[in-house]
Amino acid sequence: MTANKQPEVNIGLVGHVDHGKTTLVQALSGQWTDQHSEEMKRGISIRLGYADATFRQCPDMDEPQRYTVDEECPDGTESEVLRTVSFVDAPGHETLMATMLSGASIMDGAVLVISASEDVPQAQTEEHLMALDIIGIENIVIAQNKVDLVDRDGAEENYNQIKEFVEGTVAEDAPIVPVSAQQDVNLDLLIQTIEEEIPTPERDPEADPELLVARSFDINRPGTEWDGLTGGVLGGTLSKGKLEEGQTLELRPGREVEEGGQTEWRPVEAEVRSLQAGDDTVDEVTPGGLLGVGTGLDPAITKGDALAGRVAGPPGTLPDVHDSFTMDVTLLERIVGSEEGEGEIDEISTGEPLMLTVGTATTVGSVTSARGDECDVKLKRPVCAEPGVKIAINRRVGARWRLIGFGTLQ
Ligand code: GTP
Repeated sequence: MTANKQPEVNIGLVGHVDHGKTTLVQALSGQWTDQHSEEMKRGISIRLGYADATFRQCPDMDEPQRYTVDEECPDGTESEVLRTVSFVDAPGHETLMATMLSGASIMDGAVLVISASEDVPQAQTEEHLMALDIIGIENIVIAQNKVDLVDRDGAEENYNQIKEFVEGTVAEDAPIVPVSAQQDVNLDLLIQTIEEEIPTPERDPEADPELLVARSFDINRPGTEWDGLTGGVLGGTLSKGKLEEGQTLELRPGREVEEGGQTEWRPVEAEVRSLQAGDDTVDEVTPGGLLGVGTGLDPAITKGDALAGRVAGPPGTLPDVHDSFTMDVTLLERIVGSEEGEGEIDEISTGEPLMLTVGTATTVGSVTSARGDECDVKLKRPVCAEPGVKIAINRRVGARWRLIGFGTLQ
């Protein structure tokens, strides 16, 4: 049997609640990864919502029928492994937009799932597409799901609505593949389209490693004796370089430490004790896919996502930490994704609170000076980021944070 490879690309699954993201990932990955992997992986998988799928082909068959996730071809021969992809299943519920945005920063491409049996766009279809636009994810495939629920005319009308909806957006030229995730219809064509549209990014293996930490855990069962404790675990993705067991990492901005009535943020150093990629424990990892990094950190420090949003790399190699910054601002034309209807977006004003997503970090900032297309913000929690990074800007409207535009770190 051909061994599955380590995942090499992260593909977001985005779209409105109940349009079939989870069903699609299940159909493509065969099963949820947490059913057959270790505890560390399971925690990350459940919390981040991801699954790996190995795409294969039966070289003797025509396109698109040759594309499959099955290990056996219809003629009984073994299929050939193409690559393993990691699906990041972004939650569709509107309150989880911040999670979706931080997930988006680790996506190399996305599949936008749109139900053929509902009008286009539904609230989160629009909001998620806007987020992809902001984060700059250009490799997009649209899965027009649930085609089994509509007739030919209905599918065509829905297709035309999708075309109209994506006009002028980053998904304007995205291929639209009609599928039924539940009935296994056209999934071969969907795999072929993903292979063509979402290539594995080229990466420099010699670069200093940079781990974007999306989650962090304490994987010990309650009541474990101290000598049986496993160190804190980080979950995330490597954006560049390669990571090895035994390496020392610095996490920035680290954690808030109180000393003599003063609080300050201090970087945290951690030794890499184990690495988990795909379903395997490995000695070394390269970018792509989601990783579990077992460290020598006290699990109390990593518990409950306490280190999510940090960046980790060899000491001294990471970007600056900012507790305030100036950003260029581009506002959206109107608020999208609201069930209560759409609204105009007023300019950002001095003194207002904003929720900012910078990489995998989400933090609240207060605007200290607003000057039209740029503004200064003071952050509640500092972020580690390079100039030029895209920032999603959310404003509180009614009871929730709404995406109002994006910023670029100066
Ligand atoms: P959230 O994770 O809550 O955002 O939803 P989701 O987008 O992951 O949707 P999910 O996969 O849970 O599917 C929602 C419902 O639609 C389930 O009852 C599925 O069985 C059903 N469903 C998904 N795909 C299809 C399909 O192709 N055809 C039909 N008829 N039903 C489908």
